[in-house]
Amino acid sequence: MTRLDKFLCDEGFGTRKEVKALIKSGKVKVNGETAKSPEAKIDDDTVILVNGAEVKAQSSIYIIMNKPKGVVCASRDKLHKTVFDILPEEIKRKDLFTVGRLDIDTTGLLVITNDGELSHRLLSPKHHAEKEYYAEGKGRLNPNSKEIFEEGLPWGEGRLKPAKLEVISDNGEEVKAGLIITEGKFHQVKRMFYTVGVEVTGLKRVRFGGLCLPPDLKEGEARYLTSDEEKILKTF
Ligand code: URA
Repeated sequence: MTRLDKFLCDEGFGTRKEVKALIKSGKVKVNGETAKSPEAKIDDDTVILVNGAEVKAQSSIYIIMNKPKGVVCASRDKLHKTVFDILPEEIKRKDLFTVGRLDIDTTGLLVITNDGELSHRLLSPKHHAEKEYYAEGKGRLNPNSKEIFEEGLPWGEGRLKPAKLEVISDNGEEVKAGLIITEGKFHQVKRMFYTVGVEVTGLKRVRFGGLCLPPDLKEGEARYLTSDEEKILKTF
């Protein structure tokens, strides 16, 4: 048995004050009735909806977004919308974060979760989760780029881990290519291409670990992972 406002705070819907305001706004339903009191007692069998979506106790949340251009992977930004601002109302919560980041002008697969442990594992250099990108760029691509990337590009004091390049088209001025990396250094893909002669003009992440960007998820859209996708995300 717990109080409704405490439960909603624990589930990431904000501070006590914010949760009280949420309840007052009529967006919370308890067993089919609009909740009136933050002190209402609830238990494991109570069905709670916020903005029409059921809230399950202590559940980890996994969201996939096809990130559009122009939004940032930050919890707050003075100039730009964030990926959290554009989440559908029914899946917005306060405890979410992105698993890694994509640049403001990069599109594609972004995982958003409240599962810190999984996020840590997915990003840890120890686990080598692959990230696959589709890149378009301008410039003359060094003909040895594939081997250079495979060997591990010199990077600061050290070297990058081996990366796989697949050139899709290259006419000497414009390049389209796929690139698989296992790290996530700052502007890594753009900087890698730059060192082999190409300025990236478009970048899209199409895979993270075993999870591919679903073809029907349009730019700007986000939804919960299906349970099969959740399993795929967790095995890498
Ligand atoms: N590499 C980049 O340069 N940008 C991204 O957004 C992701 C990987």
